[in-house]
Amino acid sequence: MCDLSTELLDWYDLHARAMPWRTPPAEKQAGVRPDPYRIWLSEVMLQQTTVAAVTEYFNRFTKRWPTVSALAAADDADVMGEWAGLGYYARARNLLKCARAIVADHGGIFPADHAALLKLPGIGPYTAAAISSIAFDLRHVVVDGNVERVMARLYNVHTPLPAAKPELTTLAEALTPNSRPGDYAQAVMDLGATLCTPKSPACGICPWRMPCLARQAGTAQDLPKKTPK
Ligand code: ADE
Repeated sequence: MCDLSTELLDWYDLHARAMPWRTPPAEKQAGVRPDPYRIWLSEVMLQQTTVAAVTEYFNRFTKRWPTVSALAAADDADVMGEWAGLGYYARARNLLKCARAIVADHGGIFPADHAALLKLPGIGPYTAAAISSIAFDLRHVVVDGNVERVMARLYNVHTPLPAAKPELTTLAEALTPNSRPGDYAQAVMDLGATLCTPKSPACGICPWRMPCLARQAGTAQDLPKKTPK
């Protein structure tokens, strides 16, 4: 039996990008789960910043503040200093607010609950879904620009962005499996970042090359459409 999500998860097991917040394959095999603190921190840093740029900041942050409680106890100026260069400084201020709320209201433990996560400072729908799925393996759909592009191509959606967002989110939701939703979310993002790229997508080696409607129609390069500014 092989459905779309299984094909993608099989690809991800072989080709997942190594990132400092991801569990290495051997540990994963042994059942080690990702640390919600590291997933949260990486997702906040990755908003508006590339994986390559974030890695160095992430490593410095987690060395200095290895837990959410350690971060909550940090001086504001030290955190702002470590953030310098990443930009969008409201993210760093919210980071501290959120760390302190987790200590004050949740005993220093990230809630494994999408609704409770959404109530925390600086955690919006995207971050709540990312933490729920990646850290806690709850079935929530994570939709970023990569996921929108992959869905637009897989289903040959010609509605331009941003109007197409609800349609692409519904498609992404429907594809999310009950088993391993966290790996699945990261697999779609990796596929978009490495093979299903905006220009010259590598359709020939894509795990979804057979079911992809845009590849069949020869439209992959042209999707997603965007409403002219
Ligand atoms: N972009 C944002 N979060 C990501 C993740 N967990 N994996 C890959 N790309 C991402």
